[in-house]
Amino acid sequence: MELRAVSKRFGGVQALRDVDLAVRQGSIHALVGENGAGKSTLGKIIAGAHRHDSGEMLVDGRPVAYGSPREALADGIALIAQELSLVPGLSVMENVLLGTEAHRLGMLDARTMRRRFGELEELGFNLPADVPVGSLRMADQQKVEILRAVAREVRLIVMDEPTTSLTPDEAERLFAVIRDQAARGTTIIYISHALESVLELCEEVTVLRDGQVVRTTPAARQTVEGLVTAMIGRSLGAIFPPKQPPASDAPVVLSVRGLATSGWVRGVSFDVRGGEILGLAGLIGSGRSEIARAIAGAERREAGTIEIDQQPVRINSPREAVRRGVALLPESRKAQGLVLGNSVLDNVTLPHMHAFQRGGVVLRSRQRARVQEVCDQVGVRAPTLSGSVSSLSGGNQQKVMFAKWLCRPPRVLIADEPTRGVDVAAKHAIYELLVGLAARGMAILLISSELEEVLELAHRVLVMRRGRIAGELDQADEKAVLRLAFGTAEPQSGAR
Ligand SMILES: Nc1ncnc2c1ncn2[C@@H]1O[C@H](COP(=O)(O)OP(=O)(O)OP(=O)(O)O)[C@@H](O)[C@H]1O
Ligand SMILES: [Mg+2]
Repeated sequence: MELRAVSKRFGGVQALRDVDLAVRQGSIHALVGENGAGKSTLGKIIAGAHRHDSGEMLVDGRPVAYGSPREALADGIALIAQELSLVPGLSVMENVLLGTEAHRLGMLDARTMRRRFGELEELGFNLPADVPVGSLRMADQQKVEILRAVAREVRLIVMDEPTTSLTPDEAERLFAVIRDQAARGTTIIYISHALESVLELCEEVTVLRDGQVVRTTPAARQTVEGLVTAMIGRSLGAIFPPKQPPASDAPVVLSVRGLATSGWVRGVSFDVRGGEILGLAGLIGSGRSEIARAIAGAERREAGTIEIDQQPVRINSPREAVRRGVALLPESRKAQGLVLGNSVLDNVTLPHMHAFQRGGVVLRSRQRARVQEVCDQVGVRAPTLSGSVSSLSGGNQQKVMFAKWLCRPPRVLIADEPTRGVDVAAKHAIYELLVGLAARGMAILLISSELEEVLELAHRVLVMRRGRIAGELDQADEKAVLRLAFGTAEPQSGAR
């Protein structure tokens, strides 16, 4: 696959400029770059989801111009998009086989479908065939998406951040699948912010910056630091800011007792003091997000009490949570966090409109000034605040979600995977933000599947396992967290 001088403009934004890219058949080729660098746009052009304005695309030396993803697919090119695109009402098997030969035979030949699905399952993804996709957790949905691309037996797959919801284990399994596909001659274009895995998995790496190719080099000749410098045009010092422990007399801001959810969270109790970052570690599905949502009124509590600033509070809806000063940065920005069709302006101020109104009149200039201020603070790169959030790159959407909660700082910030999909420089900015907010007295509950984030940022870590607190650690220690998360150690004395 080859691109020659490909350019693409969205209104006033030059998303890609004269991009040259040559990808060898059967190779695993990475695309890296900051949020908004143009990676997804490039992937979508290759897979027929966008048309380039100028330049040429060649497949097997033959010029192609796909008018739609369907045309690209017919020519053997599939895209695993950054935002998943599954049909929630259909089963896992149907989603995976949608549009393939086995599916075209229809329900009439359920046996063929089942056999084909069985073959695919040998990849080791352990997905239930008959469960509706909508009821699966994010990580499993991501696996369905991957399996679907593999099922289509295409010759080129563009994977746009396929591992963002996967555990390290699951990601390793995906890498095995990718290597296997490549060995069979399938070409893989792999887009990711996880630079270490990029170097481990890929043969060639192309760095994009502001829509232009900075360079393409063999991965073997690259280091993470070198890539970062090429991506952001400068070198980045320490990623994690130094820890600032909360004042020894800092009052408890959030107190949770005996929390139980309709899921499997039971008997969860903990306190978070002002200025403290409490980490919630554990495997995906261990109940961390359930706790987050239950405290923020987004999931029903079966039992348990919540106190904010030592006052018992009733939080039975997200609206009540906001009023009590509890903000949730949810795990899935698409499903829970943002109204993608609305503007940046509206999304950021949605929960706070009362603060920008006087006598029923919206104070537009005040609203705009405040939104600009918080967007600058978190480094949102948006051409205009009035543009829809859906036109921003994935990482910038994540930053808009952050801006939304900073607009009126809460007492308690629950951050569930706050850096999912954001580039290294933005990660750094988000870490500094979290540390800065804590320093100003906010209580922060931090959930992350990147263990390093929890260990480097949190002052204390609770490890969840199967809906319960398996232990509490004051000293960040990776091995101890993993032992507790996997249940290979007795609960510690700190466990309640
Ligand atoms: N549909 C669209 N309408 C308008 N602008 C768009 C659209 N899609 C992308 N853009 C803009 O094009 C630029 C490149 O975006 P793109 O999504 O390709 O970035 P990316 O490298 O994938 O970033 P990320 O790491 O955040 O996913 C950004 O400035 C983005 O705002
Ligand atoms: Mg992207």
